[in-house]
Amino acid sequence: MNYETIKVETRGRVGLVTFNRPKSMNALSIQMMREVVQALQAFQNDARIGAVVLTGSEKAFAAGADIKEMQGLDFAEALTTDLWAEWEGLGEFRKPTIAAVAGYALGGGCEVALMCDIVIAADNAKFGQPEITLGVIPGMGGTQRLARSIGKAKTMDLCLTGRLMDVQEAERCGLVARIVPATDLVEEALRTADKIANFSLPAVMLAKESVNRAFEVPLSEGLRFERRVFHSLFATEDQSEGMEAFVQKRSPQFKNR
Ligand code: CAA
Repeated sequence: MNYETIKVETRGRVGLVTFNRPKSMNALSIQMMREVVQALQAFQNDARIGAVVLTGSEKAFAAGADIKEMQGLDFAEALTTDLWAEWEGLGEFRKPTIAAVAGYALGGGCEVALMCDIVIAADNAKFGQPEITLGVIPGMGGTQRLARSIGKAKTMDLCLTGRLMDVQEAERCGLVARIVPATDLVEEALRTADKIANFSLPAVMLAKESVNRAFEVPLSEGLRFERRVFHSLFATEDQSEGMEAFVQKRSPQFKNR
């Protein structure tokens, strides 16, 4: 597949998507959204892939939706094309995703990171929702996923003032899972993804689904969902193998079934 705005590679069982619009700080164009979602669909259907890393450049993970592309739109065009809705293809991707963020993750860039399961950030990363400075608001989940991730106080602060947050603050408030030196960022994300990708894929996918369920349903329903999923995993060969390997003091050989 030929992509113009992203680079797509595989490293063992890990898919790597690199945003590649360096002249515009990886601004997220409609074409880039479509290419990312297409690449993810291919990774979803590829049984050899167990996790995906999304990254940008050292300067910018992504500086938001492409302002120059959006500038001329009117309300009817934005509404009828349901502008940015296709990014939900990332939100709904079923295998684990890691955002490896260096530099700016602003607006849509921050929102794309929030759609990923784990955010690993370089020590130069900066996050923000500066849409208010452009006369609009976040449109890819910033007000919703950010509020669920870091709470109302910080979300209001970022969305209403447009200020940027450095990586230490982002880690303190729970947006970032780990901070690493910029030079190690992609390797660390790939190592983490590789570790996940070598566990049992059904268990990994259900762990992801179960954690995400916590943001959708009341606690009692979430707990019941988790317990039933836990029970169902006793139907897999990988459960037998994982527990047998523990008892026999050896490494498990998961078969993803
Ligand atoms: N869209 C289009 N082009 C962008 C862009 C964006 N989001 N961000 C940066 N660029 C372009 C700049 O226009 C510039 O292009 P030219 O060389 O042709 O002038 C190039 O990238 C380099 O940018 P700067 O010269 O501005 O670089 P800087 O280092 O001085 O500043 C920055 C970097 C702080 C990221 C600054 O570029 C910036 O503030 N960008 C916009 C951030 C923003 O407002 N994002 C939100 C977008 S709206 C959104 O995302 C809506 C949504 O929720 C879906």
